[in-house]
Amino acid sequence: MSSSGAPLCDLRPSDGVEARLDPVTADDGLALRVEALGIDYWLPRLGQSLRAVDGVSFDAEAGSFVSLVGPSGCGKTSILNAAAGLLTGFTGRVIVHGRPVTGPGRDRALVFQQAALLPWRTVLGNVMYGLECHRVSRPEARRRTQELIQVVGLAGFEHHYPHELSGGMQQRVNLARALAVDPRLLLMDEPFAALDAQTREYMQGELTRIWSIKRKTVLFITHQIDEAVYLSDRVVVLSARPGRIKAIVDVTLPRPRSLALKRTEKFLEFERRVWDLIEPGGGQPPPDAGGAVR
Ligand SMILES: Nc1ncnc2c1ncn2[C@@H]1O[C@H](COP(=O)(O)OP(=O)(O)OP(=O)(O)O)[C@@H](O)[C@H]1O
Ligand SMILES: [Mg+2]
Repeated sequence: MSSSGAPLCDLRPSDGVEARLDPVTADDGLALRVEALGIDYWLPRLGQSLRAVDGVSFDAEAGSFVSLVGPSGCGKTSILNAAAGLLTGFTGRVIVHGRPVTGPGRDRALVFQQAALLPWRTVLGNVMYGLECHRVSRPEARRRTQELIQVVGLAGFEHHYPHELSGGMQQRVNLARALAVDPRLLLMDEPFAALDAQTREYMQGELTRIWSIKRKTVLFITHQIDEAVYLSDRVVVLSARPGRIKAIVDVTLPRPRSLALKRTEKFLEFERRVWDLIEPGGGQPPPDAGGAVR
């Protein structure tokens, strides 16, 4: 949402997509259905619109982990914002647990690249903040907060302030804060992008562990193909702008997954497959990409 509160994108005249969509059924076992999503941004200065996302459809089963990958500017964040209810004018539909998204809701929580913690609050205070906003009783808020601090591995740091934590620890607080409101769908936009390679890999392992405990449906954005394959049940590969579906890869690697899985041939096969979709014929990251799509 812009600072003025106006929608970020402007609805272009519908091309009739709405009329072709199937009726929504509340109990189809899907946490998220994105149907023929089209996103245009109106650029008033240029007097023209920019097509960011074009006819994107995919879904996520309840409790599954789905990643979006694709080149910079292909509309990943725009899709996530549409699911979060932060964009109002789009064509097609985004359905969360059987309900078309029309605005933000408590059933969804966002985790961004920057942890954006409240510097004057401790770890405990930061995690409790969302619960206070939702008017959860203090004893219940404390109980949930304590449990989550354990789950994300920050026991002993409850009374530390954000500046006393490492980047990885701050992102754990961020994750705990998002989980505290007990969302059904967790929307994560490059949450580990600001971390160094070693911490990032460690956090991938941690996220897998936390996800297996909490079993939230996750929509996750990353430029790191190995991260997408390692974490996901499904990887949605998008083309360059306007973002269109190139392929949807179901990652059938067994769970639970440990980081050692990344060194196996089966894992590398999936990684190559996704790379091949992004860079046909390449089959592996360009030498200067550091394992990431740019
Ligand atoms: N608020 C906005 N107003 C106008 N254009 C926008 C706005 N937000 C995004 N765009 C444009 O929409 C396109 C998709 O942007 P988006 O941020 O969704 O891409 P992305 O895939 O998340 O990119 P990155 O990987 O770099 O984060 C880009 O061309 C961008 O310039
Ligand atoms: Mg983005």
